[in-house]
Order: sequence, then C-alpha cells, then structure tokens
Amino acid sequence: MQNVPNPLEQRDLVKYLWAARHRFWGGLGLVLLRSLAAAPCTLLIQRIIDKPLKEGSISGVLELSLWFVLCLVVHYGFSVWGAHALAKSMAGLMVEMRSRIFFRLQFLTFSYLDGQKTGRLLSKYAFDTQKVEGLLFTVLNQLLPNLLMGVCILAILAWMNWLLLLVLLLAIPVYATAKYFFFSHIRRANNENRLAQEQLTGTASEYISALRLVRSFGEEAQAERELDRSSESFARSRVSQSYINALFGTYVYVGMQLLSLIVIAGGSIMAIRGDLSIGTLFAFMAGFGYILAPVHMFIGLSEPYFAAQEGYASIKELIDSRYVEDWHGARTESRLRGDIVYDHIAFHYPAAPDKTVIKRLNLTIKPGEHVAFVGPSGSGKSTLANLLLGLYAPTSGRILIDGVPQSEWNMRWIRRQLAVVMQESILLSGSVLDNIRFARPGATEAEVREAARLANAEEFILKMPEGYHTAVGERGVALSGGQRQRIAIARAILRNPPVLILDEATSALDYESERLIQEALDRLSAGRTVITIAHRLSTIKNADRIIVLREGDIVEEGDFKELSERKGVFAELVAAQAAEANHPHEGEGA
Ligand SMILES: Nc1ncnc2c1ncn2[C@@H]1O[C@H](COP(=O)(O)OP(=O)(O)OP(=O)(O)O)[C@@H](O)[C@H]1O
Ligand SMILES: [Mg+2]
Repeated sequence: MQNVPNPLEQRDLVKYLWAARHRFWGGLGLVLLRSLAAAPCTLLIQRIIDKPLKEGSISGVLELSLWFVLCLVVHYGFSVWGAHALAKSMAGLMVEMRSRIFFRLQFLTFSYLDGQKTGRLLSKYAFDTQKVEGLLFTVLNQLLPNLLMGVCILAILAWMNWLLLLVLLLAIPVYATAKYFFFSHIRRANNENRLAQEQLTGTASEYISALRLVRSFGEEAQAERELDRSSESFARSRVSQSYINALFGTYVYVGMQLLSLIVIAGGSIMAIRGDLSIGTLFAFMAGFGYILAPVHMFIGLSEPYFAAQEGYASIKELIDSRYVEDWHGARTESRLRGDIVYDHIAFHYPAAPDKTVIKRLNLTIKPGEHVAFVGPSGSGKSTLANLLLGLYAPTSGRILIDGVPQSEWNMRWIRRQLAVVMQESILLSGSVLDNIRFARPGATEAEVREAARLANAEEFILKMPEGYHTAVGERGVALSGGQRQRIAIARAILRNPPVLILDEATSALDYESERLIQEALDRLSAGRTVITIAHRLSTIKNADRIIVLREGDIVEEGDFKELSERKGVFAELVAAQAAEANHPHEGEGA
C-alpha cells in the first residue's frame, strides 16, 4: 500500500481509475475467472451436436451436457463472489472521494463559496460521485469480463472456421465511423445536461429551503416560474441527450445486424456445400452474440462514460479550485493572550470589488479588554469579525494576533482559540446537548449543563420533551430565535476561549433574558478579550471601550460615559434609542 498515488490527483477519469487499480485486482480476478468458466460452453455446443450425430450415441449427449452444467455452476459461483468483492472495493473508493470533496470544501475561501449555490455543491457531492461509481461498476463487472469472454470465444470459433470469422473484423469500421460521427455531439450533450442539472438542483434547493418565505409573501407563482425555467432547460438538455444517444445506438445496431446476417447466410452456404458441420454453425450462432456483446457494450457505455467523465470533471473543478484559503502558517502556542491589532486594514468583498467595506482602519485591542463595535447597519462590524476569524483575507494591511501576523498562525488553531456567537445562530441536526458540545467535543454532560445555565437556556431546555436529548435542527423541535441564540451563547461559553466575539448575540431576546445573559456574559468576560457587536446600546454600558463605525471607518471611540457626553454620533444614537424606549411602538421593527 505504500506509495499508492492518490487517484484524485489524476487529470482525467481514465487516469483516476488506473491510479486506483490496486483496489480492484481481487474482484476483477474473480469476475474474469467467471468468464473463463463460461467460455468452453460454445465448444460444448458444437460437440453436443456433432459427436452423437457421427457416433449415434445418446449417452455422449448426456455426458457432455453434464460438463456444460458444471461450467455454469462454476461460472455462477465466481459471479456472485466477484460482484460482491467489486462492490465492496468500489464503495470504499467512493467514500474516499466524497470525503475528499468535503475536506476540500472546508478549505475553500468564502469569497468562492459566496458565489456558489449550495445545491450545486450538493450535486457534486451526491450525483457526480454516483456517476463515476456507475461507470466503474459497469466496466469492471460487465465490460472487462465480457471482453475476455468474447476473446476466448473468438479463439474457439477461429479454430473451428477462420474464414467465417474474418467477417467479424468488419465490426471495426462500423464502430470507428460511429465514433467519428457521433462522439463530439454526445460529449456536448452530456456537458449541457450536467450544467442544467446543477442549475436545477441549485435553484430547487434554494426555493425548497425558502418555502416559508415564499409562502409568507404569497409569491408562489414567482418561485414556480423560476423553478420551471430551470426544470425546462434541464428537460430540454435531456431530450437532446436521449436523441443523440438513440441515433448513435440505432446506427450501430443496424450495422451489427447486417453483419450477423452475413455470418449466418455465409455459414449456411458453407454447411450446404459440406465445408462446415451443423454443430459448428450452431456454435457460431451461439457464440456470435458473445463476440458482439463487448462491442455493443462499448457503444452502450458511451453514455455512462461521458456522464462519468463530466461528473469527474465537475468534482475536479472543485478539488483543483484555486480559491483555497492561503493560511499556510503553522504557529501555535499553549493559549492565546488575546492581543489584537488591525493594522491599516482595507477590505472589499471579492464579490463586490467596487464597494470598499473597510477603509484603512487601525485598531488595537489589548488582552482582557472588552471592546464594543457600534454603528449603523452595513458599517462593517460583522466584516471586522469575519476578518479576524480569517474567513476573508484583507485587501491590504494586516491583522496581528498576539503580535504575530495572522498569516503566520495556524488558522484552525486560532479559530479554536476564539468563540463566536454569530448574527445568525446556526443549529445542526442533533440533540441540544450535541449542539452545545459542538464547541468542545470532549466536554462532559455536566459541563454542557453548566454552560447552558450561564446562557440562561436551561429553563427552556428542561421544558422540552426530552430535555437535553431533544432533537433540534432541521428535523427536530423548532426553536424560537431567542432560544437558538441562547444555545449559541452556551456553545461559546462552553468553549471557554481567550477571545470571545459576540455579534448581536442577545438581539433576539426580551429585556429580562437579555439582562440575565448580560450578567452571565459580564462574569464570563473577566480575563478574556471580548468583542461585542450590538445595536442595543444598553448592553455595552460596561464595555472598556466603544468603537463607533460608519462606512468602514472609526468615527469615535471612548467609554460609554465619555461618548455620551461628547455630543457626537454616539450621543445621537443613544438619544434615538432613548426616544424609542419611551415610545416603543413607533420604533418597533427597526
Ligand atoms: N458576503 C458578502 N459579499 C459581498 N458583500 C458583503 C458580504 N457581506 C457583507 N457585505 C457588504 O459589506 C458591508 C458591511 O457588511 P457587514 O455585515 O459588515 O455590516 P454590519 O455592520 O455587520 O451590519 P449589521 O449591523 O446590519 O449586521 C455591507 O454593505 C454589505 O452589503
Ligand atoms: Mg452584522
């Protein structure tokens, strides 16, 4: 097993399969033995007819028939055994392929992923691998054994009558011309079909996950129109694909039938003239199908082959994508101190190069400091957190963490030193316990419960049907926005990180829950660096420093008291929120 090349490194499908060949030797050996066991049947057919005709003995027929049955039994045994061995090694290869795809997804930059539809990626993961698997099984379990069988029978027939066999060589030009005429069309049809399929799964998965939105807005007709458009273009691509395949199949079928007519007619003329025994003619008729089988298969294979080639190309497109996070640093420490410097950071999202989101921003956050980012929606608060997490690389400038440039750190290690409560609380399917434990897989149940208590989540968790073991997420109990948020906070607490990032972590909570959690968070903040992003200014009263952002720039900074007295942007925000608190209904939903 040493030095086995990684098949996915190979450029095209055939090379990929070749590089993975070591897995299949055993199974392939068995299915080839299956062909060798069946090949003598053709010879036996000739004997069963000719020998008794000559000698007039019926017992000879029985004896030869017994041999025939024996061949079949051996053939059957090898077939079953071989198919099982092949299926098993193939499944192993596919598991590996899918895990490579997912592995890759983990490293692709969000600048690339932002532009990809989830369904399209899903299609690569699920369908494209299946296409490769389908082809592989056909080739190994059918084409190669049939080919061996065809060659054996060819040899047997050549030995019986070589002249008649020469006719079969005519199959080559029939096949070659077909290849010349049709293959480029078939390839194009398959390519169109694959793209249309990706488009369809992409749109479908988008609208299926947005069913609630669509229905709430009463915009079903619009969604249907969009989806129908993708569905129709997929259907169109299927039609042209099936049509070209049918044309090709018919062309070859007619050619082959003409050929068999020549063999049979020629054979009977020879038999009439006494150049050929009846047994041999029977053997030819029985064997002819086996010789043509691999030719037919080659032709039938064009569809799965091109489909698999397309599938492989699509997987390779992902695996070879240049859009990989280029954090090559390897540095780790025992624990981060939590010293963060944004040094002349400028940034625009790759998807919108014209729109500067952060403008040459300088900011130093000391270990243990509690900093709050405030500012209007779209001012770049979440973006600053994304940059610190290394989800995007700054366009210019650099971020220093504990005095070391971000690029020198092992980024995965850094991310595990941080804990983030994101603006959207994402739950995975699984129990509440699993969801909190995601932040620290080794945590005991008691530790998880402690974190949930601190996040003021235990009360509602215990009211659920199975408490901590209740399933949530896509197929589980539906949780409210505030409940999800508390689970996300518990997750961050459980991690016990040197740096905590809270992006609107309590925005979905009522004042009372918020106050309770705020207390817990304030306690938790001791001894660690905390970055809080908040619209509700009451939650950041205790921050050591408040940074006021506007259009990607720092416009003010200081503590709550200083800023409130300064009569600047911050004081205006405070006044606006105070007015809202006095007349809550006017400001609702803002
Ligand atoms: N993935 C993205 N691709 C392109 N542009 C983006 C992306 N995410 C955010 N932006 C843009 O960057 C700007 C800053 O966004 P950001 O999410 O940092 O704002 P924010 O201050 O967190 O706002 P909010 O208070 O509403 O959360 C916005 O104008 C937004 O349109
Ligand atoms: Mg934000």
